[in-house]
Order: sequence, then C-alpha cells, then structure tokens
Amino acid sequence: ANDKGLIRDSWERLGKNKLPHGTVMFARLFELEPELLKLFHYNTAFSSVQECLSSPEFIDHISKVMLVIDAAVSHLDDLHCLVQYLVNLGRKHQAVGVKTQSFNAVGKSLLYMLECSLGPGYSTELRDAWVTLYAIVVETMSSGWTE
Ligand code: HEM
Repeated sequence: ANDKGLIRDSWERLGKNKLPHGTVMFARLFELEPELLKLFHYNTAFSSVQECLSSPEFIDHISKVMLVIDAAVSHLDDLHCLVQYLVNLGRKHQAVGVKTQSFNAVGKSLLYMLECSLGPGYSTELRDAWVTLYAIVVETMSSGWTE
C-alpha cells in the first residue's frame, strides 16, 4: 500500500512532460548495452547514440515507453488489466530482436533515471517499490516470448 503511494508520488514528481526523463533513461541504456542501438533502425541504422536520441521515430519510442510506465502506475490496483497488452508488447519486442535479458539493463536505466530526477527523494524504499513494479511488467512482457 505504501509502495503504491511512493510510486505514484515519485512518478508525479517527474512532472507532466516525461520525455526528458525517458531520454536520460535511454542514454543510460545505450551506455550499459551499446548493442541495443542496432535494434532501432527505422530507415537507416544510426551511426551514433546522439543521432538515435534525436531522431523523431526514436523520440516516439521513448514516449511510448513512458506511456506504458504511466499505464502501470495508473493501474497499480488492477495491473491484471494490462496483462494481455504487455504479453503482446513482449511478442512485438521479440520480433524486433530484443532479448529478454536486455530488460535487466532497462531496469537499471529506469532506476538511474529516477535517481537523477528525484535526487534526495530517491530512497531505498522507493527503489524497492519500483523494482517490484518493474519486475511485474517485465515478467509479463517476457511471457510473450516464444521459442
Ligand atoms: C516498439 C525496441 C524497450 C514499449 C518498439 C520497436 C522497437 C523497440 C524497435 C518498434 C519500432 C517503434 O515502435 O519504435 C525496444 C528495445 C528496447 C525496448 C531495443 C529495450 C531493450 C521497451 C520498453 C517498453 C517499450 C521497456 C515499455 C515498457 C514499446 C511500445 C512499442 C515499442 C509501446 C510500440 C508497439 C506497437 O507498435 O504496438 N520497441 N524497445 N519498449 N516499444 Fe520498445
């Protein structure tokens, strides 16, 4: 119950425009796993992280990711509503070449972003609450992978 409050408050504290936060998150992700850059090729492959981070299609992807997190935060009391959507989303990511292991680095990048954005408001309790929520989202998405 307290976890939910921490998550809702911290997400709200990031402000209405989540895009800058998502950009910090993905910049971090490419530091942790530079190979992931290759999976984002909309027309041509990006030659640098900077080029990727400033492309409209990639910026759209950042918005999509932030919307999924927003949906999870809004449905903390009824996450089951999102299951079918997330399983399907996982399937789409398998199709574009994502490996489920890469979600570990995504999780680290999410925490990194929260720490940067919240400063002293980032606590162990808060981190643990986000780790729990993120694990649910990722496990559900991962169940969309098929052999
Ligand atoms: C779509 C890559 C993580 C949400 C896509 C697409 C690619 C991609 C290539 C298709 C093109 C596009 O729509 O831009 C990746 C990679 C990830 C990652 C490499 C990290 C390993 C995530 C995460 C979320 C997410 C963590 C949300 C929790 C979405 C959504 C779409 C999408 C909502 C659109 C799906 C649709 O068209 O219905 N992703 N993604 N992605 N991704 Fe990701």
